[in-house]
Amino acid sequence: MQLGVLGGGQLARMLAMAAHPLGVRTTALDPSPDACAGAVAELIVAPYDDPEGLDRLGRVSDVVTSEFESVPAESADRLAASSVVRPNARALAVAQDRLHEKRLFTELGIDTPRFEAIGSQDDIDRMEGPGVLKTRRLGYDGKGQLVVRDESQRDGAFEQLGGVPLIWEELVPFERELSVIAVRGVDGSTAAYPLVENHHRDGILRLTHAPAPGLAAEMQALAEAYARRLLAELDYVGVLALELFQAGNRLIANEMAPRVHNSGHWTIEGSETSQFENHVRAVCGLPLGSTAQRMTCTMVNLIGGAPDVADLAAIEGAHVHLYGKAPRRGRKIGHVTVTSGEPAWRAVDELARGTADG
Ligand SMILES: Nc1ncnc2c1ncn2[C@@H]1O[C@H](COP(=O)(O)OP(=O)(O)O)[C@@H](O)[C@H]1O
Ligand SMILES: [Mg+2]
Repeated sequence: MQLGVLGGGQLARMLAMAAHPLGVRTTALDPSPDACAGAVAELIVAPYDDPEGLDRLGRVSDVVTSEFESVPAESADRLAASSVVRPNARALAVAQDRLHEKRLFTELGIDTPRFEAIGSQDDIDRMEGPGVLKTRRLGYDGKGQLVVRDESQRDGAFEQLGGVPLIWEELVPFERELSVIAVRGVDGSTAAYPLVENHHRDGILRLTHAPAPGLAAEMQALAEAYARRLLAELDYVGVLALELFQAGNRLIANEMAPRVHNSGHWTIEGSETSQFENHVRAVCGLPLGSTAQRMTCTMVNLIGGAPDVADLAAIEGAHVHLYGKAPRRGRKIGHVTVTSGEPAWRAVDELARGTADG
C-alpha cells in the first residue's frame, strides 16, 4: 500500500512513521527540499498546485491525504483523477473557509459563536458588541485575526486584515479551550479520543492536558455527538479535529481541522492507537484501532527552539519528539509528551520556557 501526503511537515512525518509498521510506504509532496518528512518518506519537491508534481504523487499513491486544509480545489480534483483523496474534496473545501464551516455547524445543530459574513468596512461598523474578525481563508496560529473590544479597534480593520472576505464572530467568554479528535473508516465506523484541554501562547498551541481535567461524561458525549454529525454529513474518511470552547456545560465549536492535529500528539504514547496510525488505517481502508487512553498525559510543544535533548531525556516519563526542523521564531520544532504526572510536565515546561520563544 502506498500513501501520498500533501505537505511534508511534522504531521506528514509522524503519519509516515505510523504507516511504516503497517507496511504502508509514504510519499510526501512539499515545495521545500528541506521538508522534515523527507527523513522518513519519499519526497516530491513541487508547489502544491504543480500539475506535474501532483500527477507524480497521484501515480505512486493508492490513496492521497493532506497534512493541511488549504489544499487548492484544483489540486484536490487533479489528484482525484489519478488516485483516491481522503478526506474528500468537500471536507477540505468546507474546512478551509470559516464561513462555510460555521454554516455547516449551524445546519447540524452544533453550537457555535454567533457569526456574520463581512465584505467591507461598512459591514464591520454595523456589528454590535465585542467580536473577533477573522479572514475566511488561510488563517492559522492566530494569524489573520483581530479582536475588537472597543469601537476604535474597528477603524481600518478591513484593510488591516488585507481587504479580503472576513467573518465576524461574537467574542465568546469561555472558561477553557478543549478539542476532540475523531476518526471515521471507509466502512463508516467511527471512534473518538477523550476531550483534551488546550493552552495557547501568542496564538500557538503550547500545552495539551489529556484528558481535560475534571471533565463530566456528558461533555465527552456531546463532543463526540458533534464530531459524529460532521463525519457522517461529510462522508468523511480519516481523522478530524474539532476545537471547542467550554462555557459552563456548553460546548461551542470554534473550528475544525480535516487532518491529524497538534492537540492529538499525546496519543502516540497515551492511546492504544495513535491519531496518526488511525488516520493511516482509515484512509487505507483498514479497520480502526482502539482510541482508549492508556494514561494521563501532558503534551508540551517546543516552539522556536528546543532545550538540550539530554535535559529532556533525563526527565522520567518525558517522551521527546524532535521534528528535525531548523529553529525559527514561532515555529513548532518538536513536542514532548509527559506520562509521569505534574512535576515532570512542569519540569519540561520550565525547560521549554528557557528557549527563544518560551
Ligand atoms: N469567537 C471567539 N471568541 C473568543 N475567543 C476566540 C474566538 N475565536 C477565536 N478565539 C481565540 O483565538 C484563538 C485562535 O482562533 P482560531 O479560530 O482557532 O484560529 P486558528 O486557525 O489561528 O487556530 C482560539 O484558540 C481562541 O483562543
Ligand atoms: Mg484554532
